[in-house]
Amino acid sequence: MSMDGDLIALVNKLQDTFNAIGGDAVDLPQIVVVGSQSSGKSSVLETIVGRDFLPRGQGIVTRRPLVLQLIHTPDSSSSSTSGLSPSAHNNTNNSSSSIRRSPRIGSTDDGNNGYLPNLEHTPTAGAGIMRPGGRQMNEYGNVTYAEFLHINRRFTDFEEIRKEIENETYRVAGQNKGVSKLPINLKIYGPGVLNLTLVDLPGLTKVPVGDQPTDIERQIKNLVLDYISKPNAVILAVSPANVDLANSDALKLARSVDPRGLRTLGVLTKLDLMDAGTNALDILTGRTYPLKLGFVGVVNRSQQDIMQDLPMDDARQKEEDFFKTHPVYRNIAHRCGTKYLAKTLNAVLMTHIREKLPDMKARLNTLMGQTQQELNAFGDATFLGEQHRGSLILKLMTEFSKDFVSSIDGTSLEIST
Ligand code: GDP
Ligand code: NA
Ligand code: MG
Repeated sequence: MSMDGDLIALVNKLQDTFNAIGGDAVDLPQIVVVGSQSSGKSSVLETIVGRDFLPRGQGIVTRRPLVLQLIHTPDSSSSSTSGLSPSAHNNTNNSSSSIRRSPRIGSTDDGNNGYLPNLEHTPTAGAGIMRPGGRQMNEYGNVTYAEFLHINRRFTDFEEIRKEIENETYRVAGQNKGVSKLPINLKIYGPGVLNLTLVDLPGLTKVPVGDQPTDIERQIKNLVLDYISKPNAVILAVSPANVDLANSDALKLARSVDPRGLRTLGVLTKLDLMDAGTNALDILTGRTYPLKLGFVGVVNRSQQDIMQDLPMDDARQKEEDFFKTHPVYRNIAHRCGTKYLAKTLNAVLMTHIREKLPDMKARLNTLMGQTQQELNAFGDATFLGEQHRGSLILKLMTEFSKDFVSSIDGTSLEIST
């Protein structure tokens, strides 16, 4: 089966079912991006989301953690009918159950292109990015709006989101290269996203500059450790290919919390900037550094691409061409690039869900037993409303166990190559 759209369909079905019965569904891992300054962390995160909305650039750009929660909503009309007020869900926890939604079994906003949260799927996606004063989110169908925890309004324009991240960074971390551990919390709502949390972090650095304190290295290290030491974190360890991997701060730090390399995915950026005559084939094929999840090489937008506002779709095409035509990477092109990175992450999430399934099945069986008993107790008497609810739940759960569980049980987690 194709991994791409199915993950969203499966997880949404699972979460809809558990929401309908008032429980928490799968607790998906947080994806945390780690690396030295300017290694390309924000760029990688953006390509995973499939949208251009993070401040990026040379020097110290990301100066506060950005905790980005993607929150699935049933359909695009929900923004006007769900009755959500911006303050109604201004909490920092990652539970989607605080959002009221109707059960929606079997439906899916599919058709994504391999990018994890499926923000990109749209017939009009040719433009690729949100330009200043450009397209609103709802034109894309899959993202309805975004909200920051610190400000009581909805955003529907990605360029405005980027500006707000910048302003909020300045407000707390100052104008002059200071770093703050106080996170910026941003939630993106839409029918095309998967309930998932991604974390962008300030880069690891050694030498204090600007207003940075003398112990900046230790401070940032501790900040990063706060996020990656959680057993539930999937670490995207970003290393630039034009720097010796032996000096990778990302890998050093990842190894300190994940010594066996079980939840660390290596990302090698800037393959286009390697010295002529050198290549990263040994790293990409796992011969240099052992990581169970492996290394994926990517080519993000260069600073010039960013300045020229190169659309994300064009950048992806450029990346694909780079690998396909490269004399060395040509042979492994099918497991290089952003799209493959997203696929790999999908597979990681699937494995995670599969590990949690026995638990969830047991919980469902118990609930089904209880519900059946309650229904029997109601008999044909009074509580018609309750009974209706009960039978709906029973229907959902039955569908869940028969259809969903068996389908995911049979899911191959191999990434097709
Ligand atoms: P961060 O500081 O780790 O978040 O890095 P950014 O994502 O902000 O990227 C830092 C700079 O490196 C930006 O100017 C990017 O355009 C550039 N960059 C990132 N990845 C690549 C890449 O794969 N190739 C090239 N040529 N430039 C890249
Ligand atoms: Na940077
Ligand atoms: Mg950054």
